Amino acid sequence: MMKYRYLPLIASIALLAACSSGSHSSSTASSSPAASATAAAASAAPAIAADGAKVFNDNCSSCHGAQGQGMPGAFPPLAKNPVVTGDPKVVMHIVEYGLKGKISLLGQSYNGVMPAWKSQLSNAQLAAVVSYVRSAWGNNASPVSEAEIAGVKK
Ligand code: HEC
Repeated sequence: MMKYRYLPLIASIALLAACSSGSHSSSTASSSPAASATAAAASAAPAIAADGAKVFNDNCSSCHGAQGQGMPGAFPPLAKNPVVTGDPKVVMHIVEYGLKGKISLLGQSYNGVMPAWKSQLSNAQLAAVVSYVRSAWGNNASPVSEAEIAGVKK
């Protein structure tokens, strides 16, 4: 039964995600609590990951590349980038409030401007996309929550 310990939490995150994305999902009520919890968990994980991928494809891939590969000298790669997989607060701050000025990365330098995304994307979208870039393309860093996004001040 250990593996069901976090299911109520996962289920409520799924419901929150469904509400904040504006979709009116019908209830997952079922006669069997275990079956309904399993269904909620099964739909929760892919839904959050897909959302981050969608936010990325819609807003970030034009500069950073569909595979996070970037463009040498113009747009830094996000794949295998130690900043992206490093301190989550730094990544959240960059994505929320933008970045400009010279940076050096993997033998290339960049001196561009990235716009702030805080006013463009919801906290849920920001959490999803930061979690996505930290875990896609071979990156393997922890996800961030909507509450953590909300807690990062300019
Ligand atoms: C208009 C092009 C553009 C778009 C769109 C864009 N970025 Fe950026 N991004 C940049 C540039 C340019 C930099 C480097 C800024 C500099 O040189 O100081 C950067 C830097 C970053 C960094 C820091 C990389 C490092 O090594 O310090 C992260 C993380 C990042 N972007 C994530 C994102 C995410 C997530 C999105 C989508 C929500 C996004 N970017 C959309 C242009 C863009």
